[in-house]
Amino acid sequence: LKQILPALRQAVPPLQRSMSSAADQKRKVAILGAGGGIGQPLGLLMKLNPAVGKLALYDVAGTAGVAADISHINTTAETTGHTGPEELEAALTGADVIIIPAGVPRKPGMTRDDLFNINAGIVKTLAEAIAKYSPSAMVTVISNPVNSTVPIAAETFKKAGTFDPKRLFGVTTLDVVRARTFLAAKKGLDVQSVDVPVVGGHAGVTILPLFSQATPSVTLTDEELEALTKRTQDGGTEVVQAKAGKGSATLSMAYAGALFADAVLKGLNGATDQVQCAYVESSVVPGLQYFSSKVRLGPSGAEEVMGLGTLSAYEQKGLEALKAELKASIDKGVSFANQ
Ligand code: NAD
Ligand code: LMR
Repeated sequence: LKQILPALRQAVPPLQRSMSSAADQKRKVAILGAGGGIGQPLGLLMKLNPAVGKLALYDVAGTAGVAADISHINTTAETTGHTGPEELEAALTGADVIIIPAGVPRKPGMTRDDLFNINAGIVKTLAEAIAKYSPSAMVTVISNPVNSTVPIAAETFKKAGTFDPKRLFGVTTLDVVRARTFLAAKKGLDVQSVDVPVVGGHAGVTILPLFSQATPSVTLTDEELEALTKRTQDGGTEVVQAKAGKGSATLSMAYAGALFADAVLKGLNGATDQVQCAYVESSVVPGLQYFSSKVRLGPSGAEEVMGLGTLSAYEQKGLEALKAELKASIDKGVSFANQ
């Protein structure tokens, strides 16, 4: 043993390095809308992610300052700023993961669908550029109304011949983050240990938290269940009202967007344990071509779109109640992209 130990000691570090090389692969992440309320803290969080080797920050205005600021942080990601359509190619080329928080946010009194007229065109234009410059990237869409912007991006990619349903996601992570927080507070649980799947879409009643599948499992009175469901569905509106005209959730959204992007990056790098709720092309609910449910992430993106599990009677009712609105939002996105 004495004789072979020194040789083993020498052999192990290179072996560990080669075993961990896929998991440690540095990726390029591009954020489109990087100068905005979400984009700035999201850029900061992605700059802190050790899986990010290059961070491209793109916006139509103001990106140079944000990029210069973030670039001084002594973490690995090499940060570049790109401003205006003529610099979109450089931002997108070689990107592994693209995060899109570009577009206008709500003001009090507005629905997410009221953002459609402006944001639909923004997402379509950005999707056209992605199809051209970065057709095999993982694309995560934050811009609202997510229920329609994801179908818009999908149709745009289809037209360009680059659509892969495994690589396009609507980010609904904030609904999960909220459901976890609200449940933990209501039941006095350690928030770090709480998980709640949230399915459906990302607007009002289309947001369907499944508290019957929460971890740890909880017993809720009818009033508690109703209150928690409603608060999760109205979480965005709660922030819009509190900000009183100064936009919608930005910091919690940046956290949620970074959490989801991190899972996508880990999946890309070979992790097999990354499961997140996301709004993807789906056959989980007949008639709803896009739907958010648990998705297993891997090197090719959404490798498995998981079913809903057993729903309580309350959740089953919620599922029925969301179908018409979600279908209308999907159809609106599809016809916009094809008009
Ligand atoms: P914001 O106005 O602060 O920032 C948006 C940014 O997008 C701005 O910097 C703007 O210059 C940029 N932009 C506009 N057109 C662009 C284009 N063509 N290309 C690139 N960038 C462009 O808004 P915000 O608070 O960051 O919110 C952004 C979007 O995210 C909104 O649509 C909001 O509703 C949505 N949102 C979604 C979720 C979610 O859970 N999915 C949560 C919060 C907000
Ligand atoms: C949210 O859920 O916070 C976002 O969709 C923003 C909004 O308009 O509510």
